[in-house]
Amino acid sequence: MTKLWGGRFSAAGGTKAVKFTASLPFDQRLWREDIAGSRAHAAMLVEQGILTPEDGAAIAHGLDQVAAELEGDTFPFRIEDEDIHMNIERRLVELIGPAGGRLHTGRSRNDQVAVDTHLYVRREIDAALAGLNRLQEVLLARAEEYQGVILPGYTHMQRAQPVLLSQHLLAYFWMLERDAARLEDCRRRADVSPLGAAALAGTSFPIDPAASAAKLGFSGGVYQNSMDAVSDRDYVLEYMSAAALIMTHLSRLAGEMVLWSTQEFAFVEMDDAYATGSSIMPQKKNPDTMELVRGKAGRVYGNLLALFATVKGMPLAYNSDFQEDKEALFDTVDTLLACLEVMAGALATVKARPERMLAAATEGYLGATDLADYLARRGLPFREAHGVAGRAVRYCIEQGKNLADLSVAELGQFSPLADESALTCLQPRAMVEARRSSGGTAPPEVERQIAEARRRLAARSR
Ligand code: ARG
Repeated sequence: MTKLWGGRFSAAGGTKAVKFTASLPFDQRLWREDIAGSRAHAAMLVEQGILTPEDGAAIAHGLDQVAAELEGDTFPFRIEDEDIHMNIERRLVELIGPAGGRLHTGRSRNDQVAVDTHLYVRREIDAALAGLNRLQEVLLARAEEYQGVILPGYTHMQRAQPVLLSQHLLAYFWMLERDAARLEDCRRRADVSPLGAAALAGTSFPIDPAASAAKLGFSGGVYQNSMDAVSDRDYVLEYMSAAALIMTHLSRLAGEMVLWSTQEFAFVEMDDAYATGSSIMPQKKNPDTMELVRGKAGRVYGNLLALFATVKGMPLAYNSDFQEDKEALFDTVDTLLACLEVMAGALATVKARPERMLAAATEGYLGATDLADYLARRGLPFREAHGVAGRAVRYCIEQGKNLADLSVAELGQFSPLADESALTCLQPRAMVEARRSSGGTAPPEVERQIAEARRRLAARSR
């Protein structure tokens, strides 16, 4: 079988080289973008008088047929045609004859694959934004539902100070809010058309790249430089970097869900739909979905690093190395969207166990800071107050009691400044309510965050 570019070649390529160079097995997924790009290009060629309206109409009709075959899974793919771009072009010529051969006027596969990838990344950024939005909605809804539930906040994985469960959940909301902003920002740079750059230097045909860009909805217009246009993969790397950071956040949340569903913590119970059993240990209910989200962060980092390594040191302009961007990108898209979806489902259905959380917040001397703060408010320098509270904790450990269970007389041994009002401020709820500083865990501050979070989501959905 002859190649579309076979003119210069005396023999057909060996099958090993054909298989090795082909991107068709994976770049098939770009067929919608490829057809959209071709439609816009052909329409522009007609407007510019480069193609006759008859040829333009035949191409448009032919592309409809090709799209129908691809949609209906009847498209005759041929690996010899290397990639989705040449498969579609070959099929177009088969279906409509010589007019099909005019489609590629003033275009190269280099700007063609670039425009397809821009369209694809732009669409998948939107999909990721929608996925983030759903997960943020869930976090916010659960934060609203669990207002008032108290658990220990941790530092160094040691019980530190009591916090509201809503405060804990909202911390993730804000991480994802920054992630969404990052995606929106890199979307702007993906939203620029490379079409018209042709192979690398532009074309001698009187094309109008701004017109094809407008037809494809590129709000950022066209690239300033044709060599940059065909060899820029920054927008892919930016999307993949944003994805890596989202996965970092999801893996932290997933990791906490794994921890919280242990018997030792038992702060939550995963819904059966998001857990699995063991093939040998009947008692097990494993938080597999959360372990996998945590684990899949690794492959998203790997994809990012792989593409950085590919692009590094690459001379201008297009090089076949760029074909290696696809699998890494596609795998990141699939992994990210699947993780966002499973996280939203798992978080929407997980049950908190407020009694376990409160019990944990009641034991473990979480009031030590509040005792020190109390003494400091009564005039003791904080550093000394810290020492007094530390001695009180040591006494409690020896006596096997909680700070809040000390009598006024016992407290008085440590400092004459402590009276019964010290004991009230050592209750978990009082400790939470006291932390009214901006962004703190006190209920009014958490309510303020919830209102602000609602406002942000509403602004984004506009
Ligand atoms: N299959 C190629 C890719 O994915 C398309 C561009 C190829 N251009 C070329 N001159 N070989 O990057």
